[in-house]
Amino acid sequence: MPKSKHKVERVETKFINPFGPNIMLGRIPDNVYSQFKNIIDNVLKDKKDSHADKLAGRITEEWSITENYICKTQVEEFLIAIAEQYAFKTSERFLYNGGFTTTVDPNIPKTEVDASIVGGWVNEMKSGEYNPVHFHPYSNVTSVFFFSSVDSDFLTDMIAPENTVMSGTPVEKGSSGDGYLELIYKSGGYFEQGTFRVEPKDGMFLLFPSSLLHTVYPFVSDKKRISASFNFVIQSNSGIVNFGER
Ligand SMILES: [Fe+2]
Repeated sequence: MPKSKHKVERVETKFINPFGPNIMLGRIPDNVYSQFKNIIDNVLKDKKDSHADKLAGRITEEWSITENYICKTQVEEFLIAIAEQYAFKTSERFLYNGGFTTTVDPNIPKTEVDASIVGGWVNEMKSGEYNPVHFHPYSNVTSVFFFSSVDSDFLTDMIAPENTVMSGTPVEKGSSGDGYLELIYKSGGYFEQGTFRVEPKDGMFLLFPSSLLHTVYPFVSDKKRISASFNFVIQSNSGIVNFGER
């Protein structure tokens, strides 16, 4: 492919991302992780309240994380804190015009956010199960917390193992997308990507708008892929965050 004939020098550039929804990626702090993992283990052991009939997943083991598991725990505090941080930062991004402007009209009131957890559940996915493209109604922000790493050690085989090239790129067990989460915003095009694929890593979490479509691909493994999800309703004085009438 011919290179540009024009040499461009001393042009300072930076990337901003003013379009599309905000996605927050993080790692559960160690002190919260142990309590969180304990709660997940208890929910899966107790099998008290199946969530399977409320969800899109072709997954047998989907169990509600009812209020009694998290009420007044550090995990609850952590969930509220990250949801409010997500909403606050999203509002700030809007106020600062996607990072393009550096000052804000002082007459604009400071953003206030208030998050409530309106649902939570654990997915224990086994070999061959999958979660079709869906979104989460009745909330404005949702989240995913991974308690498994889906890597080449986790997988026993690749789906369609004889097909080792995907869109012209070689793939093998652990890099084929099996068991990955994919967030779907829109069709891709020139100079943009419309989807975001995530390899689950134990302890990683994501927050994104509940309206954002997402899916989980099936996999082959003798281990279970464990993740949790919480839905939030976040109220705010910021129009870009607010949920419904105030
Ligand atoms: Fe989901």
